[in-house]
Amino acid sequence: MCGIVGYVGNKEIIPILLEGLHSLEYRGYDSSGIAIHDGKVLSVLKSVGKLSKLEEILKNDAGSVNGKNGKNEHVYCGIGHTRWATHGEPSDINAHPHFDSDEKIAVVHNGIIRNYQEVKDKLVKSGIKFLTQTDTEVIVQLIAKYLKENNSVLSTICKTVSDLEGSYALAILFKEKPDKIYAVRKESPLVIGLGEKENYLASDSPTLSRFVDKIVRLGDNEIAEVTKEKVEFFNTKGEKINKTVQKVIKSKDFLDKRGFKHYLEKEINEQSEVISNLLNEFLPSSDSKVKFDHLKLKPEFLKNIDRILILACGTAYHSGLIAKYVFENLTSIPTEVQFASEYLNIKPLLSEKSLVIGISQSGETADTLTAIKRAVSCGATLVGITNRADSALADLSKERLLISKAGLEVSVAATKTFTAQITMLYLLAIYISEILGSTERNNLKPLKQELRLIPRLVDQTLTRAEYYQEQVLKYANKRDFVFIGRGINYPIALEAALKLKELSYIHASGYASGEMKHGPIAVLDPNVPVVSIIVPGETYDRVFQNSLEAKSRSAPMIAVTVDGDKKAESIFDTVLHVPPVTEVMSPFLTVIPMQFLAYYIAEHLGRDVDQPRNLAKSVTVE
Ligand code: G6P
Repeated sequence: MCGIVGYVGNKEIIPILLEGLHSLEYRGYDSSGIAIHDGKVLSVLKSVGKLSKLEEILKNDAGSVNGKNGKNEHVYCGIGHTRWATHGEPSDINAHPHFDSDEKIAVVHNGIIRNYQEVKDKLVKSGIKFLTQTDTEVIVQLIAKYLKENNSVLSTICKTVSDLEGSYALAILFKEKPDKIYAVRKESPLVIGLGEKENYLASDSPTLSRFVDKIVRLGDNEIAEVTKEKVEFFNTKGEKINKTVQKVIKSKDFLDKRGFKHYLEKEINEQSEVISNLLNEFLPSSDSKVKFDHLKLKPEFLKNIDRILILACGTAYHSGLIAKYVFENLTSIPTEVQFASEYLNIKPLLSEKSLVIGISQSGETADTLTAIKRAVSCGATLVGITNRADSALADLSKERLLISKAGLEVSVAATKTFTAQITMLYLLAIYISEILGSTERNNLKPLKQELRLIPRLVDQTLTRAEYYQEQVLKYANKRDFVFIGRGINYPIALEAALKLKELSYIHASGYASGEMKHGPIAVLDPNVPVVSIIVPGETYDRVFQNSLEAKSRSAPMIAVTVDGDKKAESIFDTVLHVPPVTEVMSPFLTVIPMQFLAYYIAEHLGRDVDQPRNLAKSVTVE
C-alpha cells in the first residue's frame, strides 16, 4: 500500500506535500515523511504515527527542511510518503523516505520487493550497512551502488529495476540533481500531474486533481523524469517514449464531513441518496428496462453464459455473495464467488462463454486485479464494478464498466460503497434477465417496483440511528460477537462481523446459522452476544430455530428483523427493527443497523473510527 506524492515548482513545497499526503492517508497511516532538496542540501524528515505527528514536528522545526535556499526564484523539489507497514514494524527508522548510506539519494516506495532478502545479502557482502528492516532500503542502496559504477541516473534506474522482483512505485531524489524527481513503477499505481511551470506526482489522480487539470498515468516499467518545465518518459531500456495526456476527474466532495462527527457516520447516512441516484440513472421507473447499454455485451453472449464468477476482497466480496443469490434466482446461471486472493491458487475453469465480475470499491486492490487478469486470460468476458472511474480496474474493464457512483468514501471501513455495489449488482442481474427474457423470468416488474422503493426504506432505517445506538451500547463491553444469518442475509452476517472487527477491534465471527451447531456454538456464553439477521421469508423459521439453540447456551440474543415481528420480540433480549421488506431486498436494510452497531460500539470504546489501526482503505500489495 502506501501513498506517494512529489512536487517540483516555485510554490512553497511543505503545504503541497502535506496536502497531498492528507489525500493519500487512506493508503496507510503507520508513519509519514518527506524529503526536500533545497538546491544544496537533500534533507529527510519522518515520523512514526499519523500525518498529524509529522505536521506537529514541522510546525516546531520547519527550518531544516523547508526547501528554501535563500534565492528569490527558487525551485522547490520534494517527495512525501504515507506508510502501511509490510517489511519492518512501524517506527521512525522504518518510515520513508529512505536514504542510501551516503545520504545522497532519497527514495519513497509503494509495493513489495519479493527478492529483497537475496539482493540485501549481496549488498551486505559488498560491505553496505543497512539501517532499517524495510525492503525499500534495498532499492536505495542498490541505486547508490549502480550510480557509483556508471554515473548516469537513467541507466542506474534501468539497471536497478531489472534486479527487482515484485511491485513498486518509486519516487527518487538525487543530491546531484537538485530540481528533478525520477519516478518508475511496476504493478503499483503512479500518476504524473502536469501544471504550469510546476509538475507533480502521486499514487492516485484524485490527489492530483487538487492541483492540476491534466495527468499522465505511468505504465508498468516506465520511468518519468519530472522537472518544473517538463516531464519526459522512458522505458526501462532507457529509450524515450510518448505518453497520452488525460483530463483529470475533479472530486468535489472530498474531505467534507457535512457536520457529522466522523466520515463513517456521514457515509452511512448517505446511503439512501446514493442508491436513489443510481436507480434514477439506470432504472428511472419500474416500467423501464435497466439502462446498461454502454456495457457492450452482445445478447448472443448473454444468452449463452455458462457460468458467472465474481472476484473481490473484503466488503466487496460480501456484496458478491449477495449477488450470487440474485443472479441464480433471476437468471439460473451458476454463479460462484471467490476471494480474489484465493483464486490465485485455484485452477481457472472458465471459457469464452464465462462472465467474470470484478468488484472493487477502489479499483486498485492488487489481489482483485491479479485474480481478474488470471480469469480473463481464459477468454472470459469481464464486467468491472468500481466506485473509481479512474482506477486500474476501470482501465481493465474499459467498455464493460459499471461505476457505482457513491462519491468518494473517506472512512476506511466501507459502508455506502457496499450498498452502491449491491444496487449495481441487482441492476445487472435484472439487465441480464431482461435480455434472457424467458417467460418465467419475464415478470420482473414487482422486483423493480421493490427496488425503486429501497431508497425510501433505507432513509426510514437511517432515521432510527439513535434507537440503534441506545440498544447496542448495552453490549459494548462484551468479549466476542457472533452474527448469524441464512440465504441472502448470510453475507450480511459476514459483513456485520467484519465491520465490528475492523472498527472496534472486538473479535467477531459471521456464520451461516445452520453451521452454529457444527462447532461455533461451543464459544457461546453470557459474554458472547449472538446477533441473528432474521427476516420474514423462506429462511425465517430455520434462523429462529438456530437462535433458540444459541439462547439455550446463555448467549445474550439480539435480532435484526422487521417491524411488528412479535415472535422475535418474545425470545430476543434486544430487537433492532427495520421497516418491513421482502427477503430478497432485505440486505439493503439489515446491513444498516449492523453498520451502526459497529460504529457506535467503536466510538464508545474510543477507537479511531475513520482510520482503524493496522488497516488501509486501498490494499495495493498482494
Ligand atoms: C481493504 C479495506 C476493506 C475493503 C477491501 C477491498 O481491506 O480495508 O474495507 O473491503 O480492502 O477493497 P476494494 O477497494 O477492492 O473494494
